[in-house]
Amino acid sequence: MEREFGFTQADYDRVSMHAYRIAGIHLGDSRKEMVYSRLSREVRRLRLPSVAAYLQYLDQAGQHEWTRFVNVLTTNLTSFFREAHHFSILSEKVLPHAARPVRIWSCGCASGEEPYSVAISCYEYLGDDATAVNILATDINTTILQQAEAGEFERERVQGMSPERLRRYFLNGSGAFEGRVKVKTLLRQCISFRMLNLVQPVWNIEGQFDAIFCRNVMIYFDKDTQYQILRRFVPLLKQPHGLLFAGHSEAFFHAKDLFTPIGATTYRVTESAA
Ligand SMILES: C[S@@+](CC[C@H](N)C(=O)[O-])C[C@H]1O[C@@H](n2cnc3c(N)ncnc32)[C@H](O)[C@@H]1O
Repeated sequence: MEREFGFTQADYDRVSMHAYRIAGIHLGDSRKEMVYSRLSREVRRLRLPSVAAYLQYLDQAGQHEWTRFVNVLTTNLTSFFREAHHFSILSEKVLPHAARPVRIWSCGCASGEEPYSVAISCYEYLGDDATAVNILATDINTTILQQAEAGEFERERVQGMSPERLRRYFLNGSGAFEGRVKVKTLLRQCISFRMLNLVQPVWNIEGQFDAIFCRNVMIYFDKDTQYQILRRFVPLLKQPHGLLFAGHSEAFFHAKDLFTPIGATTYRVTESAA
């Protein structure tokens, strides 16, 4: 297929090197077409002739362009109550032992469905008291974080949620917002959104969490990067009841010394590491 812009294997290798250097994202060999289709939008916007020219431009560009580069390369697929069993485990195994405010970190929160689902689960267990719940929602992608903070979704994104949940936690859009819903302040106010790159050496996080949701994020990292991040999660989880939730295709067998699986891609800190 004829491409609009030049894109060689050497260009792909350079893109991969930068994605790994900045975000820890391991693109591998199979994402070439995906990378081309996403970067070509940037090449077109900047009226450049090729991906090579775009990469050269990036080398002299400021932080803003690098941020855009990372934003277009990340995959932000998510949904409300994705992998629903994790929310049951949260209510059954974490919340009964948690002091107030309950503290939960959703890292790699994408457009916010995950932290909003966590907030709903907490309220359903604890009652609608925003001071009892404190959720930190972070992501490397600044564009998706803005969407998450706005808390507005296509109505079809909340299809399948019970009428009771919809009534309690969402406002129905009308007029220009027809077909959309917005989370109510109650849900929004217990969540702090901020940019955080998991592979950066400093996270600026204070205190410990009752649970860490790091789901479908590690899948983009190689085993060594995963291990380094898992090592940093250990002191951030409250003991002995704090849990780490991972995505359905993520397994941390290479980090048994740090985390022990308890089933359903859920982990507790390994006793010797605690
Ligand atoms: C597929 S989404 C997962 C969303 C949600 N956790 C879920 O499971 O539905 C992966 C998210 O990880 C984020 N991400 C990728 N690399 C990251 C990094 N180095 N630091 C923080 N977030 C990152 C992406 O921007 C994206 O929003």
